[in-house]
Amino acid sequence: MAPIIQVLPTSADLFHAAADEFLRAGRTAIGAQGRFTVALSGGSTPRGLYSLLAKDHADFSWPRTHLFFGDERQVPPDHPESNYRMVNEALLSKISIPAENVHRVRAENSDAKQAAAEYESDVRKFFELRSGEFPRFDLILLGLGPDGHTASLFPGSEGLNEQSKLVIANWVEKFNSFRISFTYPVLNGCAEAMFLVSGAEKADIVAQILKGNNTPPFPAQQVQPTDGRLLWMLDEAAASRLSR
Ligand code: 6PG
Repeated sequence: MAPIIQVLPTSADLFHAAADEFLRAGRTAIGAQGRFTVALSGGSTPRGLYSLLAKDHADFSWPRTHLFFGDERQVPPDHPESNYRMVNEALLSKISIPAENVHRVRAENSDAKQAAAEYESDVRKFFELRSGEFPRFDLILLGLGPDGHTASLFPGSEGLNEQSKLVIANWVEKFNSFRISFTYPVLNGCAEAMFLVSGAEKADIVAQILKGNNTPPFPAQQVQPTDGRLLWMLDEAAASRLSR
């Protein structure tokens, strides 16, 4: 399915449009199956979305919403680099969501592979998966790095090849550390993948990715939901190298 590309004038407009899409997907999922399963992205961009959801939508059906993490750094949950910490500051600490609805990666575990295995077991249990099955998230939020990585699937990393595990401890050379990440079978099994990209510093990589003729493809280009929507939400600065 071709990606749907939405370009918003400013980052504030981007976060409002992303919040609307989050709420739409949530209401649809809760209406259809009584719950909404989301994998959140980390980094800095989505903080604006999470803050907006907390500020304007504290009354959303959070008790019917389950929040997972698309990836996590191998640090404790209170570490400045922790994705959980960012989400907790921007969103979780400001809404009433049952603790059991927040599925944190226990990345403080010094054994990254063990942390990945524990998280995989949590996901399998929650979605009641049989062996060989993959979860179908209602929504997976993703960011984009200037090198074309998404989640913690970085160019040249082993994790790009993982086709049977749901979660991997992916060694990232440039950070000299492991990152815990969902794999492509999870990212591409979702009902909707939403990239949220803001800022002129991403314009080059956005243009390269959406033009699509790279060999090897960038990791973010490999996010192609098998039976789901692919939505790229950009502000004008991030879209500034796209031909109209
Ligand atoms: C992470 C994210 C990562 C992020 C991109 C973009 O853990 O950092 O999962 O994939 O989305 O690196 O990060 P920024 O939003 O900070 O530019």
